[in-house]
Amino acid sequence: MHRLFAALALLWLAQAGASVGLLDFTADEKARIASHGPWPPVQTADVANALASQAAAVAYGRQLFTDRRLSADGRASCASCHVPALAFQDGQAVPRLRDGLPASPRNTPSLLDSAQRRWLGWGGDHDSLWAASLAPLLAANEMGHSVASLAARVRATPALARGYQRALGPLPASDEALAVDLAKALAAYQATLVSPRTAFDDFRDALLRGDTQAAAGYPLAAQRGLRLFIGEGRCSVCHAGPAFTNGEFADIGVPFFVPGGVDPGRHAGLKALLASPYNRLGPFAAADDPRAVATRHVLVEHRHFGEFRVPGLRGLVQTSPYMHDGSLATLDAVVRHYSELNEDRLHADGERILRPLKLQPADSADLLAFLRSLSR
Ligand code: HEC
Ligand code: HEC
Repeated sequence: MHRLFAALALLWLAQAGASVGLLDFTADEKARIASHGPWPPVQTADVANALASQAAAVAYGRQLFTDRRLSADGRASCASCHVPALAFQDGQAVPRLRDGLPASPRNTPSLLDSAQRRWLGWGGDHDSLWAASLAPLLAANEMGHSVASLAARVRATPALARGYQRALGPLPASDEALAVDLAKALAAYQATLVSPRTAFDDFRDALLRGDTQAAAGYPLAAQRGLRLFIGEGRCSVCHAGPAFTNGEFADIGVPFFVPGGVDPGRHAGLKALLASPYNRLGPFAAADDPRAVATRHVLVEHRHFGEFRVPGLRGLVQTSPYMHDGSLATLDAVVRHYSELNEDRLHADGERILRPLKLQPADSADLLAFLRSLSR
């Protein structure tokens, strides 16, 4: 009797086009879905930053992150652009600080999950979170310090100097060593910023343990969008793994013109990385750093021109606008981009994987429902 009721109820739901139920995912699809978790992931310590495991350094980094005295003119802190209440980005296409002029031609990325990134910055200018944290301190259009002026500021500001001593001990004599320690404390704090679990994570876990009832709580539209994402859409080729990025770079046909020229993306990023004294091969590198091998083996090749880092897709609802230049205002516009893709704009790598998806409105809506389910 009960079974009959259940069958009737299912029939009714199916006929009403109801939004609950569970698609019949194949074993292969389930394996692909499983690869996008678990969340939060187990975080392995970065040997490049010995401070990352020290609670006192994390606390000092948190203090530094919002302190405007770390900028030369005292007007900007990291949090001016990486706003904690906005998932550590700024909601603008490109950051505007002093008098509304663009401070960068690039969109401010969220810092959530940044400790998991292999390369940092849209062009991969850095190979560690601490090096990516030192750069804005020394960038003329961001915090605007030199190593000497930064160190002098910390030595002369009691709250900053005392904070250092409390967390890390006596101030080092070398200005550069002090600047590197500030960056490492900032990185130690940022490594604690992990995005929350989402409806997708609950679905993935329920599907894996065979709890069909719990899995069916995930909207059907999101399930269909997920099937498209890991299947026909080929999105997961690049947006792979628990953070929905393979950590590498690609050209998906977003124009790379900027006022007065072009943004070379990964091509310039690689040159900057290899020239930086703060990379994993430089004088500040840790001994036996297993991640140094990647930096040792990168090559600057022409194909990297116009490639940008594959962004993670968690928390998207909070991080509009999208793309390296913030040129797409909404997720609808992103889905339209992939649907209508201009193949002439892609170079060889993109072309191999991407093709215009020519989505029907219902498919676009499903893909959007899935993308939104990656946010809480
Ligand atoms: C003027 C706005 C601005 C300020 C101030 C700023 N940032 Fe950023 N941040 C950006 C932009 C824009 C990028 C992307 C840069 C690029 O791709 O070249 C970025 C990138 C980063 C990244 C790389 C993230 C990733 O996922 O690749 C880290 C880490 C970072 N910033 C940390 C900091 C810290 C720490 C401070 C303070 C010392 C700071 N930022 C100050 C705008 C800003
Ligand atoms: C060839 C690798 C590749 C494939 C395949 C791919 N993407 Fe992307 N995706 C990228 C790159 C690279 C960017 C950033 C491009 C830029 O800023 O110029 C991006 C950006 C995005 C963004 C914007 C994120 C942000 O924070 O700005 C979303 C959303 C997105 N992709 C979703 C998808 C979906 C959905 C699919 C499948 C239809 C897909 N991607 C397929 C590489 C890829």
